[in-house]
Amino acid sequence: MRIAVLRERAAGESRVAITPETVKKFAALGATVAVEEGAGLTASITDEAYREAGAEVAPEAKTVEGADIVLGVQAPDVAALAGAKPGAWVAATFDPFRNGELVEAYAKAGFEALSMEFMPRITRAQSMDVLSSQSNLAGYKAVLTAANEYGRAFPMMMTAAGTVQAAKVFVMGVGVAGLQAIATAKRLGAQVSATDVRSATKEQIQSLGAKPVFVEDVAGIEGEGSGGYATEMSEEYQKAQAELVSSHIAKQDIVITTALIPGRPAPKLISDAQIATMKAGSVIFDLAVAQGGNVEGSKPDQTVERHGVKIVGYSNTAGHLAADASALFARNLFNFLSAFWDKEACKPILDEEIGDAVRLTQGGKVVNERLAG
Ligand code: NAI
Repeated sequence: MRIAVLRERAAGESRVAITPETVKKFAALGATVAVEEGAGLTASITDEAYREAGAEVAPEAKTVEGADIVLGVQAPDVAALAGAKPGAWVAATFDPFRNGELVEAYAKAGFEALSMEFMPRITRAQSMDVLSSQSNLAGYKAVLTAANEYGRAFPMMMTAAGTVQAAKVFVMGVGVAGLQAIATAKRLGAQVSATDVRSATKEQIQSLGAKPVFVEDVAGIEGEGSGGYATEMSEEYQKAQAELVSSHIAKQDIVITTALIPGRPAPKLISDAQIATMKAGSVIFDLAVAQGGNVEGSKPDQTVERHGVKIVGYSNTAGHLAADASALFARNLFNFLSAFWDKEACKPILDEEIGDAVRLTQGGKVVNERLAG
């Protein structure tokens, strides 16, 4: 069993899919690991560290030669896989709803694409879930970045020269990233409020010491879809939400938006007219900017100024914490493959529940039911 890890080629990608820690763990299972030269440098991992952990460090083509499994943060182009075994597995993120051509290319080339974003939200798969591990870090980084862009302090400070008021932070979307954003903003001393379409989050917001801001008394209020994901809301709800948000965000200093709906563009939560009601110097961090954005006018990796308000968002927020993001991503991949490791065959054999959920291509075809039609 040969596992290969290539240097990430996507623009701005600083993470890597394996760490010296997981090299050792894969070796303990009986696998050999090859890592492309320089693959870990942007995540502060040297070739030497990989070698010391027992990996072979090689140029691109040699790394992938004879590989049974290729690991990636973002799935490599099919051309980079030339030399891998026929039918080799590639476990990485594929962004399958938006990358149809890539998925087709994998099918055509006969590789088995395993999409880590499609990991089912079940208890035993929690430790394999890259969306959670990366969102958690992203929520933290969003608050730190917003704090950095903000020309005032977060905590209340009583000084001899007078009092500095605590910043008011509003978090929209309280999934994994939103919860971490609330916790981080609280730790920095801000006054925090938060909203979501799933009413289950109300208690979670309160338990972190923040104030829930919720739409009440509207039909279609329960936005809970399957697996903890949100669904698209009714028109009536969207209107009520917009009114509530309008009156609330005018009083906020910082807004962090994190709202996503699987397989759909991110819902628009803040309009330009609403931004105009905010105080000059306020900051909005749009964590959904790469999925179309929650905020009108937000642009990936740019600071946009509208009505005196700064709008910030990264195309790859977790990548701004490359070392920790890689460590967690690599553990997710190891937890996934090792959970199915067959000692005698010295390879993973996936079960139906998780295998069918993550597998996009097999035997030359696109096989995932979420991509059907
Ligand atoms: P996500 O990244 O898909 O969405 C972020 C948040 O935006 C969600 O809370 C969603 O309800 C909210 N949202 C969507 N549309 C909105 C709108 N119009 N207005 C306001 N908010 C809106 O969600 P994430 O972070 O991946 O997790 C959602 C839930 O799933 C969490 O409660 C988490 O605990 C659960 N989960 C369970 C796992 C497991 O059991 N293995 C793994 C990961 C998450």
